[in-house]
Amino acid sequence: MSLFGRLSTMGQTSILTLLTAVAFSCITTGVLSLARRNCSDINLTLRGGDYTLSQGLEPGSLLVYSCPDGYYPPVKSRRCLYGRWQPTPSRIEKCKLVRCPDPNAFEQGSVTPYQERYYVGNTTTYECFSDYKLYGSATRVCKNNGKWNGTTPICSRNTDHCPDPGIPAGARRDGHIFNIGDKVTYRCADALILVGSQERTCKESGQWTGTQPECHFRYTYDTPEEVAEAFGSGLQNSLKIAEQNEAQNHQEGKMIRTDKGGTLNIYIAIDVSESIVKEDFEKSIEATKSLIEKISYFEVTPNYDIALFATKPTFIVEIYHAWRGNEQNLAEVIEKLDAFDFEGKDDKDTGTNIGAVLDKFHEHMSLMKTQNSTKFLESQHVIVMFTDGEANMGRDPKFAVKKIKDFVYGDKKEERMEKLDIYMFGVGPEVEKQVLNEYVTENAGQHTFVMKEMTGLHEAFEKMIDESGSTDLCGLHRDYTHKDKDSKREPFKFPWLAEISVTHEDGTFSKCVGSLVSPRFILTAAHCFKFGDTSSRITVTLEDEKSRTQKVKRHIPHPEYNTTRMKTEGIPEFYDYDVALIELKADVKISPKARPICIPCTTQTSGALRISDPNVKCKDHEKLLLNNEYEDAHIMSPAREMKNLKIKLGASRDACIEDAKRAKGVTAKDAKKIVTGNFLCTGGINPVTDDVACKGDSGGALFTEKNRRSVQVGVVSWGVEDICLGRTRVNSKEHTRDFHINLFKVQPFLKQHLGDTTQDYAPLTFID
Ligand SMILES: *[C@@H]1O[C@H](CO)[C@@H](O)[C@H](O)[C@H]1NC(C)=O
Ligand SMILES: *[C@@H]1O[C@H](CO)[C@@H](O)[C@H](O)[C@H]1NC(C)=O
Ligand SMILES: *[C@@H]1O[C@H](CO)[C@@H](O)[C@H](O)[C@H]1NC(C)=O
Ligand SMILES: *[C@@H]1O[C@H](CO)[C@@H](O)[C@H](O)[C@H]1NC(C)=O
Ligand SMILES: *[C@@H]1O[C@H](CO)[C@@H](O)[C@H](O)[C@H]1NC(C)=O
Ligand SMILES: *[C@@H]1O[C@H](CO)[C@@H](O)[C@H](O)[C@H]1NC(C)=O
Repeated sequence: MSLFGRLSTMGQTSILTLLTAVAFSCITTGVLSLARRNCSDINLTLRGGDYTLSQGLEPGSLLVYSCPDGYYPPVKSRRCLYGRWQPTPSRIEKCKLVRCPDPNAFEQGSVTPYQERYYVGNTTTYECFSDYKLYGSATRVCKNNGKWNGTTPICSRNTDHCPDPGIPAGARRDGHIFNIGDKVTYRCADALILVGSQERTCKESGQWTGTQPECHFRYTYDTPEEVAEAFGSGLQNSLKIAEQNEAQNHQEGKMIRTDKGGTLNIYIAIDVSESIVKEDFEKSIEATKSLIEKISYFEVTPNYDIALFATKPTFIVEIYHAWRGNEQNLAEVIEKLDAFDFEGKDDKDTGTNIGAVLDKFHEHMSLMKTQNSTKFLESQHVIVMFTDGEANMGRDPKFAVKKIKDFVYGDKKEERMEKLDIYMFGVGPEVEKQVLNEYVTENAGQHTFVMKEMTGLHEAFEKMIDESGSTDLCGLHRDYTHKDKDSKREPFKFPWLAEISVTHEDGTFSKCVGSLVSPRFILTAAHCFKFGDTSSRITVTLEDEKSRTQKVKRHIPHPEYNTTRMKTEGIPEFYDYDVALIELKADVKISPKARPICIPCTTQTSGALRISDPNVKCKDHEKLLLNNEYEDAHIMSPAREMKNLKIKLGASRDACIEDAKRAKGVTAKDAKKIVTGNFLCTGGINPVTDDVACKGDSGGALFTEKNRRSVQVGVVSWGVEDICLGRTRVNSKEHTRDFHINLFKVQPFLKQHLGDTTQDYAPLTFID
């Protein structure tokens, strides 16, 4: 009640600002000058920290404080209103050391050391009295964000129906009997905010309803890792349920999308109200895209309802068409998100009307239910909302949330609770965690998240599903720059990149790159090897977590590779079929740092290209990947620099390969004999200047990016001239072309080995 009271006052303040700016501006300059007065910079500084201003000292400007890790600003932000900062800076503040909530809530045991206050970096250990067993972490460290690591320690004899639900640090619990129907309730000490379920009930299944609460200080936020884990597992749960539903429907022979029940409906709302600056807005779009992207890795096709909202919601994608069976094209959804014009957004639209967007979701649900109520009842609904402030307009969002819950649950709340998940993401300094916590659903798992900044959200979503280690997802990579010491290497961006070195019998050696194409195989160029090379003299290095160097079982050059075959025809070195596979002794452990790239004409690649037609043909992949006259592609240097080039196809290819005649020692007159139809051609300065391949790039992947997945189309083989002279990245000249084996032309070879179903490795599934 009191909370709602505060909410509506907040709302009035904000609406007033809006009205002042709009309505009074043409009436009295007196009021105007008051509204337009700058704020002062007296006492704004923060000792030990820093601050940013969104619009200098001008009215409306938002000041945001920041402190080094492990410290927090006593005041998170201020806003300039009517020439005054709110809250008023009556003295100079300083960054304070982060504290964790009091762990002495622990019962039937002891906490050491006992302290009045526990600060970041402090360690505590937990022991139970005799007869009690310890569940949870026996040692916990106070983290930078003011949370204890590990899980709540609990001393219990577990004699009741449900396990002891514990008492989180900083909390008090009422209720100590845990049989069916018994309730426990929690509250947090003074300054702490309760996140999670305030009340939990012991269910017949022996589990508690809801999720264990936590008590947080105002400054406590969730790290990208914490969000990735908690939200990732919740979402994966929904996706897996939907996957099972789809699988069942396939079994029943109901292949047509419109006929299947158990659809997954995902509703996303993105706050674009005043306080969201352009940069943050773009980041929230990026985060949303990567969320949709991650979901697309699963074998489910959710229906999306996506809205941007301030005072009113604007729908980017509407769910109803998808619901009626019209495929929502994911690429289109992403394009529409990209196309939203932030500049065109009304500056004065400063309201954050969370209730209005939720009401729209409810309206869409009613439409769907009216259309097919059986299907609606089978469906799952996931609402994800991103906001950077609290609702300051319209009705309290709690009413809208209740309406949605009632609508989905009907009169069977217990049974139907799992059908609806509402997640709230608060980002930035102005978010009120306890308010967001009131809008979420009471299902198991964390549903309220508060993050410091938008970048963290994007990072969280990028990390989310990668971590599951699914092996079937080729070409997957993180596309944000990973901030670690080794950032130049970008291990997460090119997780398939392998470095190969071969010591030959005559003592010379070759260095090449290659690509992981399955957990067991590396694809590279045949010319990296010489006659007589043995597996013990070949080393393959991946940026893998554990064993960077892989043991090699054998290398397999393409059987038709023969460099001397055309010697008598004016081609001293002939590189047709310059491909080879390296079989490792054991599978590489798939992780975000080591994952295969996609290669053409496999079902895994169909998935990456989002082709759901089971009768898709190899030539359909070719049409998608090598279709335009100039097709954007990349190669990697061993130093992990990505080079950009364009594959020349059709008429441009003829001109491109013509330059092969300029290669040293070549006297053949017909370029098509030197560069057979098995090659792709890059380099030159038209239509743009390409990067050239340098020594050491040989054997590497020529790849394209489709739907943010990497698909290899060629293997770097040879070039007209080496203009790199030891440098790793050099612009092409007009005639310095590079030639790459086209993977569409060596399908039988790839299929013979990678698709072999009789070996001890998991084969890739090739299509015709
Ligand atoms: C307010 O501050 C801005 C700089 O932030 C300055 O350009 C402007 O002149 C100031 N206006 C007044 C009325 O002092
Ligand atoms: C600034 O802070 C000092 C104390 O640090 C206080 O005495 C002074 O009144 C403050 N000034 C304003 C304008 O609030
Ligand atoms: C806890 O952390 C504070 C602040 O860093 C430190 O001064 C104190 O010595 C620590 N206490 C223990 C027992 O480590
Ligand atoms: C907590 O963090 C400490 C120090 O980083 C670590 O040694 C410990 O294993 C962590 N505990 C848990 C339960 O994660
Ligand atoms: C409603 O959906 C179900 C699948 O859940 C389907 O079997 C049924 O044919 C649909 N009814 C109508 C009228 O479309
Ligand atoms: C390569 O081709 C040449 C000329 O046709 C032939 O003499 C030689 O035996 C071939 N080498 C291999 C390994 O097949």
